[in-house]
Amino acid sequence: MRRTSHIAELSEIIISQKKQGRKIALVPTMGFLHRGHLALIEQAKQTDAFVVVSIFVNPLQFGPNEDLSRYPRDLERDAHLVEEAGVDVLFHPTVEEMYPRPMLTFVEVGELDKMLCGSSRPGHFRGVTTVVSKLFHIVQPDLAFFGQKDYQQYLIIKRMVTDLNLPIEICPVPIVREEDGLALSSRNIFLNSEQRQEALVLSKSLNEAETSIHGGQRSAEKIERQLREKITLESQGVIDYVEVRDADDLSKVTDIKRPVLLALAVKFGTTRLIDNKVVEVE
Ligand code: PAJ
Repeated sequence: MRRTSHIAELSEIIISQKKQGRKIALVPTMGFLHRGHLALIEQAKQTDAFVVVSIFVNPLQFGPNEDLSRYPRDLERDAHLVEEAGVDVLFHPTVEEMYPRPMLTFVEVGELDKMLCGSSRPGHFRGVTTVVSKLFHIVQPDLAFFGQKDYQQYLIIKRMVTDLNLPIEICPVPIVREEDGLALSSRNIFLNSEQRQEALVLSKSLNEAETSIHGGQRSAEKIERQLREKITLESQGVIDYVEVRDADDLSKVTDIKRPVLLALAVKFGTTRLIDNKVVEVE
């Protein structure tokens, strides 16, 4: 595996691979890798493309009071993991390499970036779409892999690619969970043992809500209430949002008639966790 923090060096590698007719697959990450990230890499490897993993903790997507400085990092451990996973290139630029000057240009996907995580984290998705656009231009991928753990992010990137006619296939990867149901996240290490136990209420409440929908419940309001009640009764988590949305465009739903996204953001202590489930209806 090759690794570089330089855009120019990466570009040379990519150009030579493209000359040989190789497709390029990109897996963008912020590092501190876990099995969720590795699932994206595995899926990328299955395409036979030349696989590039990026690790960059992107300051542009963190708000002033968010956890940029305490975001977990361990580049050497990550490098070992991606090498074992058979990745071709690890790209780990510095902040100076990605942002040599203050940014004046941004990519913004309107509307979709204002709701759910966008309303509690203003500017977050603008930071994500801007850095992902930069990565797309640097890496020139044919395919890019995004986890459904960040479902809103995945939809926003898909919309950006459509709106801007970017010739990139956006490939979704299902959520990877611990055996007990907790969705893997780099932020899980911040949970103490009590919070870690309480956080199970997220996946449990989503499963129960899915059962209710499959049992015939069609009122989005009632499903939201059921989710809220379970979370507040069974944990000390502070709800940021609990929403039932259309799974294709995140629009509000009253009667559940099409696939819906059940989306949660809940704070346990200082750690904000998100989880979701897409539920199909006949
Ligand atoms: P990060 O949080 O490191 O996640 C990188 C990718 O891994 C994202 O596509 C995310 O959805 C996916 N992922 C994380 N946990 C997962 C899980 N449990 N199951 C499946 N996929 C999972 O998301 C970002 O970084 C950044 O916003 C980024 C896109 C890299 C832009 O900076």
